[in-house]
Amino acid sequence: MEPTSILIVDDNESQRQVIAFWLSEEHHEVSTASSVDAAIEMLAEKEFDLILTDVKMPGSSGMELLTWSKEHTPEIPALMMTAFGSVSDAVAAMKMGAFDYILKPITEDALKLIVNKALEHTRLVSENRTLRAYAERSSRFTNLIGHSKKMKELFELAAQVAPRDSTVLILGESGTGKELLAKAIHLNSGRSTASFVVVNCGAIPETLIESELFGHKKGSFTGAQADRIGKFEAANHGTVFLDEIGELSPALQVRLLRVVQEREIQKIGQTDPLKIDVRLIAATNRDLNTMLEDRSFREDLYYRLSVIQLRIPPLRDRRDDIPLLAEHFVAQFCKRYRLPRRLTPSAVDVLTEYNWPGNVRELENVIESAVVLSKSEQITPGFFPENVRQEHVRVSQIHLQIPDDGISLDGVERELILKALEKCQWNQTRAARFLNITRKTLLYRIEKFGLCQPSHLKHEELTEEG
Ligand SMILES: Nc1ncnc2c1ncn2[C@@H]1O[C@H](COP(=O)(O)OP(=O)(O)OP(=O)(O)O)[C@@H](O)[C@H]1O
Ligand SMILES: [Mg+2]
Repeated sequence: MEPTSILIVDDNESQRQVIAFWLSEEHHEVSTASSVDAAIEMLAEKEFDLILTDVKMPGSSGMELLTWSKEHTPEIPALMMTAFGSVSDAVAAMKMGAFDYILKPITEDALKLIVNKALEHTRLVSENRTLRAYAERSSRFTNLIGHSKKMKELFELAAQVAPRDSTVLILGESGTGKELLAKAIHLNSGRSTASFVVVNCGAIPETLIESELFGHKKGSFTGAQADRIGKFEAANHGTVFLDEIGELSPALQVRLLRVVQEREIQKIGQTDPLKIDVRLIAATNRDLNTMLEDRSFREDLYYRLSVIQLRIPPLRDRRDDIPLLAEHFVAQFCKRYRLPRRLTPSAVDVLTEYNWPGNVRELENVIESAVVLSKSEQITPGFFPENVRQEHVRVSQIHLQIPDDGISLDGVERELILKALEKCQWNQTRAARFLNITRKTLLYRIEKFGLCQPSHLKHEELTEEG
């Protein structure tokens, strides 16, 4: 068994020494701390498998250590040592998430028993976690990085639809990873050994697109010097990815509708239609609803393509993915350029604050150039383009005077939201944009803090869009 490290926290020196002696006899690696502050310092620096703490200590109590540990190191079980007769402490500790308690005076056998029980529990939990991580990795969505709630939900949905043959419509701003997701769906389907063929509907000239998609027979028009296989035929038994379908001309929308409906194509110069077996995945960064309204996109085609819709959120709406993606790209480009590089914490902060209108692709480009341009191993914010740094500079230019005795974060947030609302005359849409949050988030905060619009502003429209 691997040696386990245990932290013993007790203000009583002889008690500390006895417990340390008993546990080191069992080949545990033992560290000791005489106060909660010292313990927190050690926990922040080193990894432990178990905390064994006295409850009553001068200064901060074991309960405070428990609270801190539940927040910062929730995976480490805490065992509380309480004096006989103060069972209420023990009960309170259990409610707060302590693993167990042991009554003083402590005997060697009782201690060893309870410590082993706690360690066995940690071992099982960590084994479970490894198994789960392995199961997640072995699904073939590994190329898609993201641990935000929104992305996890998306991956789950994608994994569910991948093995079915249903048509999928992927929506999302430019650079959010639509093509990457489409490829992952293909790789997780029964068609993974056949081709994944990309058709960029916006890039092919109108005059060529028919032959490009459906192919032609030799001599069917001037310049057709040989038979040509179209993209749909090339993708037979595989997947066709119709990228940027918002760019399709009305004439091609009709042609495509037929293919989607009948699953057959008409080669130019050939009278008999050809049956094909393909799965369709379409994508666009355009707002198809508006296109439906102004009739620039056919409703019948839309409904056939959007059997299942997957929407990839923009990067600014899932900021907790930014550090993870940034590290991923640093590793990728370090390998490609054979350069040792890493991001400084302030560089990660700057990246997290920026708005990323070009989404993941823009982040990827920013990291690539920083990896190449940085002269030392450390990538500092100085190697990012000016527009990326700007937001951070703006935030750090707000001079916050923090009182010496501390301040409540909730209070600051409430004040900031109130100031923004006042600045925007309580127009919520504008205030949300001003704070760079969604209107839903703003409404939630208004309700949470019980903010009320002053009556003299009430005649104004609350939102711009109504
Ligand atoms: N979740 C992700 N994890 C890792 N890389 C990603 C992720 N999302 C996007 N990328 C990378 O970002 C770049 C852009 O992705 P992709 O081409 O799939 O975006 P897109 O939505 O199709 O963009 P566009 O609308 O401009 O065509 C690619 O290099 C892709 O590998
Ligand atoms: Mg794309």
